[in-house]
Amino acid sequence: MKYPFIAPSLLSADFSHFAAAVSDIEASGAEWVHLDVMDGKFVPNLTFGPKLAADLRPQSTAFFDVHLMVYEPDNLAIAFAQAGADCITFHTEAVVHSHRLLMCIRGLGKKAGISMVPSTPVSGIIELLPFVDLVLVMTVDPGFGGQELIPPCLEKIKTLVQIREQGQYGFLISVDGGIHASTAPLVREAGADVLVTGSAFFNAQDKAALVRCLKGMET
Ligand code: DX5
Ligand code: ZN
Repeated sequence: MKYPFIAPSLLSADFSHFAAAVSDIEASGAEWVHLDVMDGKFVPNLTFGPKLAADLRPQSTAFFDVHLMVYEPDNLAIAFAQAGADCITFHTEAVVHSHRLLMCIRGLGKKAGISMVPSTPVSGIIELLPFVDLVLVMTVDPGFGGQELIPPCLEKIKTLVQIREQGQYGFLISVDGGIHASTAPLVREAGADVLVTGSAFFNAQDKAALVRCLKGMET
């Protein structure tokens, strides 16, 4: 039985206590820290920049999974790489030369990810799949935590699993948006390798129990 990695999102943390939030993530048994970066243009919300990753980096050995929801992400991708991010994912809808940016991120020694909003089909990123380490399937319209998962997006996970097998590719499939105890089984069954969780994680009283539940382990 292969359990998915869990990636709690700092978007739902108390923004006045980011270091405590990272400590809570590490103590819960979750493997990754998901950093949602928003520019107020690509999505109607603003969060934080690379300084947060740089300041948190000395305090944590967790895998820093940066999700750039910004137009023209090239400079920010480089800045997050320098700040100690482990994986940097950007949106195909926000970039013309996606392949160039993926190569740039890999050239900096980081994992490179591509993401798509719910209205973008898998066919929109298919040419990029040989060059990515992670595909981030958005299951809500990005911008805010606490939204409901859009069920048809689950089909994209299944499609990506098939394409990965056929093409012998190595990318991970991460799923982001509306994941909680009730929806996690659907996402796992579809074949996700990484489950991002924002509001469910930070609202949970017993975070370790929530992480085991999302992974599908006995609690
Ligand atoms: C949405 C972000 C997500 C968000 C998930 O734009 O990309 O990472 O934090 O939050 P929940 O789990 O509450 O949907
Ligand atoms: Zn995200």
